[in-house]
Parts: sequence; C-alpha cells; structure tokens
Amino acid sequence: EEGLHAPAFPWNHNGWLDSFDHNAIRRGYQVYREVCASCHSLDRIAWRNLVAVSHTSDEARAMAEEQEYTDGPNDQGEPFQRPGKLADYMPPPYPNEEASRAANGGALPPDLSLIVKARHGGADYIMALLTGYQDPPAGIAVADGMNFNPYFPGGSIAMGRVLFDGLVEYDDGTPSTTTQMAKDVATFLSWASEPEHDDRKKMGFQAVIILSAMTAISLYVKRLKWSPIK
Ligand code: HEM
Repeated sequence: EEGLHAPAFPWNHNGWLDSFDHNAIRRGYQVYREVCASCHSLDRIAWRNLVAVSHTSDEARAMAEEQEYTDGPNDQGEPFQRPGKLADYMPPPYPNEEASRAANGGALPPDLSLIVKARHGGADYIMALLTGYQDPPAGIAVADGMNFNPYFPGGSIAMGRVLFDGLVEYDDGTPSTTTQMAKDVATFLSWASEPEHDDRKKMGFQAVIILSAMTAISLYVKRLKWSPIK
C-alpha cells in the first residue's frame, strides 16, 4: 500500500541553476548528529566532505576528533583506538545489523546516505514523514511499538516521532521548530545524497556557455568561408 503523496516543497536547490542553502545544510548536520545519528548511519559521508560546504576544516577536524575509531594493527599486531581524522567516515551507531535491529524492536533504521535518492518523493517525502506523525484515525489499529504516519507506505512505521519544537539549539539563532529542523535535515540529506550537486550545476552552466560560444563561432566561420560562393 502506497503512502500519502508528499506535497512539493519549494526547496532552495530546486531550480536548474540553484545551489543548496548551505546554512540549512549546517543546521541539518546538527540535527542529524544530535537526533538521527543515535539510530541511523551515514556511511558514505566523511568528515572532509563537510569542509567548505557547511563547516571550516578546523570545525570538521574538531568534530572528527570527538569520535573514537578503531585502527591497527600496531607493532604488536593489536587493534587500537584513536581519535577521528578528516579522512574518516561518519561512525555508525551500531556495529552491525543484528545490534541495530535488537535496539529497534526488530526494525532496521536504514543508512541515510542515499535515502533521498532511494525513496519516492525524495526530500519532500523526508519532510512530510518527519512532520507527519499524528494519532491514527478512528478504526485504524496500530500494532504495539508502531506509529501511525500516513506518508509511510502502509501507514505504520517502527520509527516514532523524533522532532519536537526546541529540541536542538542552533548556533545561528534560528528557532528550532519541528518544521525548521525537518527542512534542515532534509536539505542536509539531499546534499549527502549528491555532494557534487552544486559543482554539477555550475559545470553544466559553464558547458552551456562554452558550447554556445563554439556554435556561434563555427556558424560565423562557415558563413565566412562559403561567402565567395553564390
Ligand atoms: C526509518 C529518517 C531518527 C529509527 C527512517 C526512514 C527515514 C528516517 C527517512 C526511512 C523510512 C522509509 O523506509 O521510507 C530519520 C531522520 C531522523 C531519524 C531524518 C532524525 C531527524 C531516528 C531515530 C531512531 C530512528 C532517533 C531511533 C530511535 C528508525 C527506524 C526506522 C527508521 C527503526 C525503520 C522504520 C520501519 O521500517 O518501520 N528514518 N530518522 N530514526 N528510523 Fe529514522
């Protein structure tokens, strides 16, 4: 059974030439870190990916260093713990799928790296899902440990509502309403699923300009060369 169709939100990055709202990516990272990261991994994003996108390299390095990574083997052939570096990937909340399901009543919180690409509706769906929790309508039974959300296919989802007004404190002073946090984390996850998005649009724009110029030049040269022939 399909979920309710998500409304189309006016994302900053929708247009052909529009880039992401990088302040929203930064706030959205904070929501991911403080709220979603306790259950969801983000395997394809490394700390270095945040540099010059949402954070300075000093900020990204400091955030990486707050996390512990297992490395090795050392000279004794043993694994060892070390603080994170820019080249490390975001650490997962659980060591494996079994642990992940055990902590979530059997359900599996999916990796969020490509979720915006993987789900029908993309960022609109994420936004609608996070803000769409409500009491089930009369006559609809929701199983124990499940939650009613009309945007989730089937209407009953193992993830509960996680966003509540004022949950995080944004360092740019933006009020953290539920919808604001949903918008920011959906923007962050859109970027995560396509980190090369802004460059792609910029390169596309440059390609159009260069190819138009080359077309104009070749038309001019063709007319010039053929002009003696009547
Ligand atoms: C599923 C996003 C926080 C547990 C999902 C899905 C998304 C998502 C997009 C996939 C829904 C689908 O399959 O279509 C987020 C975001 C979060 C967040 C953006 C932070 C704002 C959490 C937290 C927990 C959690 C804190 C654990 C306490 C789960 C579980 C599922 C899930 C168990 C699987 C649901 C099912 O298949 O029934 N989440 N999530 N999520 N999430 Fe989250």
